[in-house]
Amino acid sequence: MDRNLALEAVRVTEAAALASARLMGLGDSHRADHEAVEAMRKAFRMLAIRGTVVIGEGELDEAPMLYIGEQVGRWAEHDPEVDLALDPLEGTDLCAMGRGNALSVIAMAQGGRFLHAPDMYMAKIAVGPSARGVIDLAKSPTENLRAIADAKGVYLDDLTVVVLDRPRHESLIREIRETGARIRLIGDGDVSAAIATCKENTGVDVLMGVGGAPEGVIAAAALRCVGGDMQGQLRPRGPEETERAKRMGIADIHRVFRIEELAGGEVLFAATGVTPGDYLRGVQFFRGGAVTHSVVMRSKTMTVRYIEAFHRFDRKGTP
Ligand code: FBP
Repeated sequence: MDRNLALEAVRVTEAAALASARLMGLGDSHRADHEAVEAMRKAFRMLAIRGTVVIGEGELDEAPMLYIGEQVGRWAEHDPEVDLALDPLEGTDLCAMGRGNALSVIAMAQGGRFLHAPDMYMAKIAVGPSARGVIDLAKSPTENLRAIADAKGVYLDDLTVVVLDRPRHESLIREIRETGARIRLIGDGDVSAAIATCKENTGVDVLMGVGGAPEGVIAAAALRCVGGDMQGQLRPRGPEETERAKRMGIADIHRVFRIEELAGGEVLFAATGVTPGDYLRGVQFFRGGAVTHSVVMRSKTMTVRYIEAFHRFDRKGTP
């Protein structure tokens, strides 16, 4: 994939972040999401790709824009054909409530290597490069945490595990506490938490628990670009969801997907912070403009670029 595309891709997440950040804390998650989706879709028109949405806002009948299968991008003759996994506003409630870690994200891959994950739950474990290769979802949380602590050369009680604060995680939280590891409960936004495992000084070592499957694919794409590791296993809530997964090509519902099976091939990832977060700063507005903080990275070179952009609305219009 053309390296210039990486720098172009970030404009798409910047546009969605600028549009939704205006609504931070106003309590309207639906509108915040809508604004992000519209802005992202519009920004895609300028991007030199022939893109197909694989992970998006939902299936055609439930999402009018950026739905699975939608074609986005400029679609000029020589533009590269890519699959897209995107979330214009990851953490809609975080944005609406003015809480940290809401992001706008896109991931691209050539050659159809993203898992076509249905909109259902997925059990996940994600770690940074220092614990790559030692995680195994087939093993217990205790066994995984021991292996991670060993790989990192720290005591179990030095580890910080991020878990979504949900009743379904009651027994997971109990087991983690018994190991002595520290826990950070988050209200939403496990993509940001997964990426934070790969960045020093975030204080996040592991993400564990059940969250959205589409978010799992997006997080895996990001972790591929920074040498982290992740596994995921679908958690259907009944035969209907199992059927839906089968229709989307997942024959074995119990399969544990490794990171390359979640997001394989050459991957490009871009994200912009919407609200202030562990990984990226949120959008800050000033008179006549705004500052955005983004990251863009590619699995091929593993170069990670942080981009602070000053947007002048008098020059390019208000988002
Ligand atoms: P949305 O942005 O779609 O609201 O997702 C937020 C999120 O917290 C994800 O980060 C996470 O994977 C998922 O929701 C968890 O789902 P649930 O809120 O149903 O537990």
